[in-house]
Amino acid sequence: MRIKDTAVARLKEGVEVRRGVSLADETSLRIGGTTDELMLRQYETIPDVMRLLADEHIPHKFLGGGTNVLIADGELPWVILHLPVAHPGMRVEGNAAYVDASADLGGMVTFCAKRDLGGMEGLIGVPGSVGGALRMNAGAYGTQIGPRVREVELYRAATGKIETLRGDDIRFDYRHTSFAPEDVMLRVKLELPSKPYKEILAGIKVCNEKRRSSQPLNQKSAGCIFKNPQGGSAGKMIDELGLKGHRVGDAMVSDRHANFFVNAGGATCSDMLKLIDEVRDRVRSAYGIELENEVIVWRN
Ligand code: EPU
Repeated sequence: MRIKDTAVARLKEGVEVRRGVSLADETSLRIGGTTDELMLRQYETIPDVMRLLADEHIPHKFLGGGTNVLIADGELPWVILHLPVAHPGMRVEGNAAYVDASADLGGMVTFCAKRDLGGMEGLIGVPGSVGGALRMNAGAYGTQIGPRVREVELYRAATGKIETLRGDDIRFDYRHTSFAPEDVMLRVKLELPSKPYKEILAGIKVCNEKRRSSQPLNQKSAGCIFKNPQGGSAGKMIDELGLKGHRVGDAMVSDRHANFFVNAGGATCSDMLKLIDEVRDRVRSAYGIELENEVIVWRN
């Protein structure tokens, strides 16, 4: 979608506009069409920018790290918004870490570790931004971000304002939270246990090794495609059905971990969607289980 020059003129103060960006360059799957992008300069201007976009009837979506999203091909009917990025975008005070949603999740784990704050070792290899991790309650190796959250500052679509929620007032479930779909995470306060850096590093090393031995880290993927059904493993079921290496065009079930679908070349969004549907059908027929997407799909 191309934003009209008149709208750009109105938006100018709060944003930098980038024309005709390929979202394939901004996602870990390397799939996605083209649209205009708005780079927000300051968190504080978000309510004004959102009002303006509504005024101008410009549909939009916030893109974080792009590591858990499958985006349609071609010209997209909405523009992309990016949160402001500050370096490092995080600070520590006692056992509290204050982190911008646009910060890198792994970078945050390391930053806190160097200040002797641990408890997030399992999250080290989870790609993506802190905001994305918050929204879906990212987790790995027995660690989830949710239990560490004390406060979240967010833009609430329902009120059009920036608000602060207490951790206790947010529900964090397995890969699911009580945030509204249109809410935008801005900043988080985490409370982390004190731990010597060396000990944290040892934990990080163990998680990295486990991940390296079981996941296709050097291939283009969005992590696990499906959520695990209660008490089961989507990857194990897909593997048992002999589907590793199964492909639709260049979209392929990883031969390393069957719940990772990789872009083995020039996969399109429709290749990936067909593969997802085929695998879901096979699992339903064989196990009577309906797999739910973990990957977020943005259709055009
Ligand atoms: N397995 C197979 N074949 C496969 C994949 C897995 O037999 O191709 C078996 C494994 O041998 C193991 C079981 O299935 O016995 C579970 O596998 P794994 O330990 O790899 O965990 P997972 O349930 O497949 C989950 C998360 C991962 C996270 C790991 C480690 C989900 C959907 N996936 O995977 O998170 O890294 O545990 O904690 O919850 C993600 O969310 O994108 C993600 C990668």
